[in-house]
Amino acid sequence: MIELQDIKKGFGDKQVLKGVSATMEAGKVNLIIGASGSGKTVLMKCIVGLITADSGKVLYNNQDFTAMNEQDKKSIRQEIGMLFQGSALFDSMTVEQNVMFPLDMFGVGSYREKKKRVLECLDRVNLKDAARKYPAEISGGMKKRVGIARAIVLNPKYLFCDEPNSGLDPQTSLLIDKLIKELTLEYNITTVINTHDMNTVMESGDHIIYMFEGLKQWEGSNEEIIFAKDERLNDFIFASDFLRDAKEMRQMEIFRDKNWRDRLKKPE
Ligand SMILES: Nc1ncnc2c1ncn2[C@@H]1O[C@H](COP(=O)(O)OP(=O)(O)OP(=O)(O)O)[C@@H](O)[C@H]1O
Ligand SMILES: [Mg+2]
Repeated sequence: MIELQDIKKGFGDKQVLKGVSATMEAGKVNLIIGASGSGKTVLMKCIVGLITADSGKVLYNNQDFTAMNEQDKKSIRQEIGMLFQGSALFDSMTVEQNVMFPLDMFGVGSYREKKKRVLECLDRVNLKDAARKYPAEISGGMKKRVGIARAIVLNPKYLFCDEPNSGLDPQTSLLIDKLIKELTLEYNITTVINTHDMNTVMESGDHIIYMFEGLKQWEGSNEEIIFAKDERLNDFIFASDFLRDAKEMRQMEIFRDKNWRDRLKKPE
């Protein structure tokens, strides 16, 4: 579990995060959504320690990351996997070498053990055949999957993905979402995703944090978001007539399912 307590961050006289508190649970896909510039990437970077917050606390399983010495921070970092926007693969390394990189960096295991783990992870993302290829030789969706394999190679407890679907077609996006969700459940990972993708919100987000101008405007489940009254959230999520219709249909579906469930619960 990750807990944020009153995180603030400014650059010069621009206050980007104005005091964000939230909880992200294990075995769940936690989404951070919000307009461009609302502070999602800065917040994610503060959580993983790539940026130091001006004030506030980040707790990993009740341990205060912000107050740790370098040694303890390193051990938490070893439990963090990160999928960067644009995948951030090393062009001069093969797929296999890219995925091995975190194992080399943290000096984990012998070469044989490392290679075995890399192949397991590539297999998990369906990329075993691409092990010897270079990033320039594979598609955008495959690059994301290499990024995911690299992010899970150290068996992370925490997985962070910044816009995992950017630049992907809708079908490939769904596959990536499904993969992240499966991994989250399979290994009980606390997963945090920054996203613009409404499909992700509706289909795979368990817990959603909506950011507005550096503050958490709304927080809830993907069922609650369908019924949420928050005007800013609704304007953001259900921005088109099409999405407003989809929302009403989903509301009806949920009502119908609930009625069914209630009826099933009643004794004959
Ligand atoms: N290193 C920096 N120096 C100065 N300002 C920054 C820095 N990083 C981010 N900002 C500012 O912080 C604000 C929030 O940026 P951030 O990248 O977190 O937005 P975002 O919500 O991730 O947007 P997007 O959806 O476009 O990725 C922006 O106004 C941005 O200009
Ligand atoms: Mg961003």
